[in-house]
Amino acid sequence: MTIELRHLRYFVAVAEERNFTRAAERLHIAQPPLSRQIQQLEELLGVQLFERNTRPLRLTDTGRFFYTHALQLLAQTTELEAMTRRVAKIERKMSVGFVGSTLYGMLPRIIRRFRTEHPDIEMSLHEMSTMDQIKALKDGRIDVGFGRIRHDDPAVRRVVLREERMIVALPLGHHLASGHATLSLHELVDESLIIFPKAPRPSFADQVLAAFHDRALKPRRLHEVRELQIALGLVAMGEGISVVPSSVYGLKRDDVSYVELDDPSLVSPIIMSMRMLDESQDLREMQAMIYQLYEELGMSYNPPGHE
Ligand code: BEZ
Repeated sequence: MTIELRHLRYFVAVAEERNFTRAAERLHIAQPPLSRQIQQLEELLGVQLFERNTRPLRLTDTGRFFYTHALQLLAQTTELEAMTRRVAKIERKMSVGFVGSTLYGMLPRIIRRFRTEHPDIEMSLHEMSTMDQIKALKDGRIDVGFGRIRHDDPAVRRVVLREERMIVALPLGHHLASGHATLSLHELVDESLIIFPKAPRPSFADQVLAAFHDRALKPRRLHEVRELQIALGLVAMGEGISVVPSSVYGLKRDDVSYVELDDPSLVSPIIMSMRMLDESQDLREMQAMIYQLYEELGMSYNPPGHE
């Protein structure tokens, strides 16, 4: 007898719940067969995966090694299922992950046009961080992700669509908002800097912090908030200033002033991520449509294939 996927699923549940009763509930099976399967797995491997007689259950070092690799194998099987369905075109569905800040850029327009051109494809949209997008792609929960962090995962293909300039959001009437066509980061160090999203990291917040750090600058005070809308609300209240992607300009709040930054290297990328082996026509068409939109709007973008 050899190890089967069932063994891996059972083992992962027990390892994560650290308790046989809870793992059995999660798997919707009774506890005795679950205990037998784990025992059988240990016999097949000829190793001990859990410490004996500890409450809650603890993995041995060997168990931890096995857990990491079991998770990867299970993720690959889910990915294989999703990919095979897409290849067979059984499902004309596309799940899209996006980070909140892309909502103020081109995302709504892209999705609208894609829906018009492909009324037969059922689209679903899911707000999630770039790092969550990588996991969701591998688990088959999304088919494409739009984020801002340059990840490095061999199972995920990354296309940097364009680099978006960063701008400064200031309270209306702030002394830096008048008489300055552009600002430098140097001019911002005496202000309270509101950054977002606070979690999960790394995020756009770290791109802003890195911009200051790379210039040996330290803002007077940092205020981390959950998301962009909160940052802008706090700016409007006079709590501080924020560095935001330039597409936020489109929000046109009348209680916030925006000023451009003088350094063209202050950018945040917009990254399209897909499963490495996913060569579906739908995704190719979406990518081509994005470049076409950039052309139509006269926007600058990276040539196709830019990683
Ligand atoms: C953009 O703003 O360029 C963009 C945003 C989301 C998806 C694709 C492109």
